[in-house]
Amino acid sequence: MSEQPKPSPAGENPKPAESNGVTRRDFLNEIALGALGIAGFGSVVVTYQYLSPNVLFEPPTTFRAGSPDLYPVRSVTFLQDQQVYIVRMPAGFYAVSAVCTHLGCITAWHPERDRIECPCHGSKFKPDGTKIEGPAPRPLPHFSITLTADGDLLVDKLQTVVSAQVLKV
Ligand code: FES
Repeated sequence: MSEQPKPSPAGENPKPAESNGVTRRDFLNEIALGALGIAGFGSVVVTYQYLSPNVLFEPPTTFRAGSPDLYPVRSVTFLQDQQVYIVRMPAGFYAVSAVCTHLGCITAWHPERDRIECPCHGSKFKPDGTKIEGPAPRPLPHFSITLTADGDLLVDKLQTVVSAQVLKV
């Protein structure tokens, strides 16, 4: 003899049929909770980005180039990591930018021709940055070069100086 379902008391809905133990209501509730969680996480990320400062960390513009004794008189030394030439002439030191004033390529020192040349479009410069030929509109700029208290060369790439300004050591 089969068992008949019990009639529910008046005013109560009968429990809906379940499949695998999950009702449609439970399923929809979980979807809604998941959507709310994703939206909440997104708003936290956006709020964090809004409140955190927009700071751009750039490398320092001032660097030590070592002792003056490292540079022989009448020498041009390319400091690749700083993209600067340290030039020592009998009159003193100067620091010349290695970045071409045409389109920003990095120039190269050619001691056999006694000049700085740009590999991109052929601009040529004297060791003091004066333009010889090519499409570069200006000479290579000179940066401020001074001595630190303990006697090292100190170059400031943020400060350009006139080419006649040399550091006498
Ligand atoms: S970038 Fe140097 S000549 Fe064009």
